[in-house]
Amino acid sequence: MPGIVIVGAQWGDEGKGKITDLLAQQADAVVRFQGGNNAGHTIVRDGTVWKFHLVPSGILYPGKRCIVGNGVVIDPKVLIGEIHELRARRIDTRGLKISANAHVIMPYHRLLDTAGEARLGKLQIGTTKRGIGPAYADKASRLGIRVQDLLDEKILKKKIATALEPHKLALRPYEREPELDLHTMNEEYLTYGRQLQEYVADTTRLVWDALEQGDLVLFEGAQGTMLDIDHGTYPFVTSSNPVAGAACVGAGVGPRDIDEIWGVCKAYTTRVGAGPFPTELADEMGERIRERGNEYGTTTGRPRRTGWLDLVALRYAARLNTLSALAITKLDVLSGLDKVFVCTSYSGEDDAAFDEYPYHQSVLHHARGELIELEAWSEDISDCRSEEELPAPARDFLAFVADFVGAPIAMISVGPGRDQTIWTSTGAESLLGRAALAAE
Ligand code: GDP
Ligand code: IMO
Ligand code: MG
Repeated sequence: MPGIVIVGAQWGDEGKGKITDLLAQQADAVVRFQGGNNAGHTIVRDGTVWKFHLVPSGILYPGKRCIVGNGVVIDPKVLIGEIHELRARRIDTRGLKISANAHVIMPYHRLLDTAGEARLGKLQIGTTKRGIGPAYADKASRLGIRVQDLLDEKILKKKIATALEPHKLALRPYEREPELDLHTMNEEYLTYGRQLQEYVADTTRLVWDALEQGDLVLFEGAQGTMLDIDHGTYPFVTSSNPVAGAACVGAGVGPRDIDEIWGVCKAYTTRVGAGPFPTELADEMGERIRERGNEYGTTTGRPRRTGWLDLVALRYAARLNTLSALAITKLDVLSGLDKVFVCTSYSGEDDAAFDEYPYHQSVLHHARGELIELEAWSEDISDCRSEEELPAPARDFLAFVADFVGAPIAMISVGPGRDQTIWTSTGAESLLGRAALAAE
């Protein structure tokens, strides 16, 4: 003990990378537990920008144990690329460990993802086309290739052949793709296995040992609660569970190993890809927020859809994750807007009103956010380093959010840099806050 989970409380891209990187300073290990390289986490350290898709966000601290857990789906080419880039930029990657049980994204998963989206036409989900959904589907079908298979020349080829069998029809248009040739694929993935071998480990054991000896372990979520395959806006979701409960499954620990759960949330809302978005602003204000917040995807470069902060969805996320604290990011982006709104209920067809997040897809697709206006502020807050320095309307905004959601705010982010962060009194009393103070 202790274990601390960091999750996205919205539709992803909340700034989990920045918050994890910052908190990782006090942690002994950081563990990714779900998702794959659909994630894109941007970290700005001393003005230098780092983008990670698979490697946990703690990697910039020399020698930090950074674990890719069994719940992650790994595209080995992408992971190797990240390792090479880190090494080229003189970052020590020896702390990196990869679960032997994690599933591997194969070339056919990427093609099936693309083909699946094309087939859906207008109904497409807007996936990142990284093969995430098909890889998790094969895992559930018990046809997945795992990291340990890449180290086994005798069985890899057989496993690939077996896995390809049920996909034959869907892959027919790609028959001539050289990367789908069984022999080529086998050789390519055995090479990846050799390159990754030094990092492969029994990561569950590593996490147990760390917790057992009292180390502080951070579990880093990817995507966000509203993209959860069970609890999000299905089918417009990802194929894993980004909620906090999945940290246990995806790392191999039990619920009693988790002490705190932090939900990361922007001061407004964004979403990439298709699906319901009750507070979406398809107008000039939405464009303004996109430009001010630089809301373009880290993974695909797509413009993110923008809207006001959806407190109905955030309160739902607080319940699903049993959040102990909120980290509010990008508060600086709201500075200087003439008006600031938050959504506190939804309206639907026939004047229906909803205080709670509706489970029914038809209701959700027609839901519009009912907004209330909060006082705006004009001051640049990017240099504020304490709550007291924030303008009163910004403090009132935060108090309103915490009160409505029923979770205290531990941290406020006012810019992408590590130092552009405010610890609140709740944050200072948290496990990480106390560890940070003790380190000073
Ligand atoms: P993640 O996927 O949750 O890690 O988030 P992304 O990295 O995809 O997107 C968040 C973006 O916002 C990144 O470019 C961060 O550098 C940036 N960012 C994080 N926190 C803040 C903040 O408080 N203010 C501003 N202006 N940018 C931030
Ligand atoms: P991070 O970790 C935002 C979205 C995609 C699409 C849906 C399904 O950076 O917050 P997938 O490729 O997962 O099958 O796509 O999920 N999506 C994300 N949106 N941030 C992410 O990750 C996302 N990962 C997937 O845009 O709508
Ligand atoms: Mg992202």
